[in-house]
Amino acid sequence: MPDITTKITGLTLRNPVVLASGTVGYGPEYAELIDYETVGAIVTKTITREPREGNPPPRLAETHAGLLNAIGLENVGLRRFLSEKLPEAAELPTEIIASVAGGTPAEFCELAGAVGERDAVRAVEINISCPNVRRERRPVWDDPEGTAAVVTAARSATKKPLIVKLSPNTADILSVAEAAVGAGADALVVANTMPGMRIDLEKRLPALGNVTGGLSGHALMPINLALVWKVSAAVDVPVIGSGGIATAEDALEFLMAGATAVQVGTALFLDPGAPAAIVWGIREHMRMNGAETIDEYIGLAREEKQRCTEKIAAD
Ligand SMILES: Cc1cc2nc3c(=O)[nH]c(=O)nc-3n(C[C@H](O)[C@H](O)[C@H](O)COP(=O)(O)O)c2cc1C
Repeated sequence: MPDITTKITGLTLRNPVVLASGTVGYGPEYAELIDYETVGAIVTKTITREPREGNPPPRLAETHAGLLNAIGLENVGLRRFLSEKLPEAAELPTEIIASVAGGTPAEFCELAGAVGERDAVRAVEINISCPNVRRERRPVWDDPEGTAAVVTAARSATKKPLIVKLSPNTADILSVAEAAVGAGADALVVANTMPGMRIDLEKRLPALGNVTGGLSGHALMPINLALVWKVSAAVDVPVIGSGGIATAEDALEFLMAGATAVQVGTALFLDPGAPAAIVWGIREHMRMNGAETIDEYIGLAREEKQRCTEKIAAD
């Protein structure tokens, strides 16, 4: 059998398929639908210091090739997460990555420290794509200095692997990625959703209560795949690919572009069995192609591209 384990700085996952934050709640809510034994890890819903009610409804709108969500980070807050949600999630047969978002570097420090000190939390993911996190007028996800400030703060609070989730909604993702790594990120998630909207023609109103939301699902895949290709070439920490992954072939594209693991989100809403099918499909692909470890796939397309370029130059 091929070895499908993968390593994300300080964390070994039994396979490279991770369930994305916000798509399985805190974990137990989906335990009857999803076989957690089949996935490498789950990322719990992003929590903030205080509970949040989130945005007004409607919060979801379908698009032709994806989904718009404007949940607005509804969550139970740090205290209830630690006392209620985390102990339940700890019983699940998979690794737990806790996602946090703060409004200031000090909040990121507090949140990362508080979740990071719990044994059940194997890694801390910080969500810098949160719209309410701003330094002056510039959102943190688009601001290398702001990113460095929140990552430095979170890094000072925990020795657990620190994963920083980037936004695709920036003209210069490399500067943000390098700032995150420079400030101590152990791995990057590339990337979160892109902003978008729809209009409800009958109501003559925006389809989402918040007007705009984050576009996820298949429409997002080529955008985030290109960002994984770019970022993974520039940083020396593992990159976790995210955006529209629904099949083993999608996941393999991300691995070949340079990802060390992948996150699956929206695909779960259509098929809660998708992650297990993705893991099976990756293993089958390895078996059929004589691959022994997942490492053989990571960045393979870049190596092939390089070989082609050298061959053309030599001819
Ligand atoms: C309903 C919903 C809620 C989400 N909530 C969060 C969240 O709390 N924190 C976060 O970092 N990302 C959140 N996301 C983004 C996903 O984790 C993921 O990065 C994104 O949807 C792209 O992956 P996908 O196309 O596989 O869904 C959410 C996505 C959806 C669809």
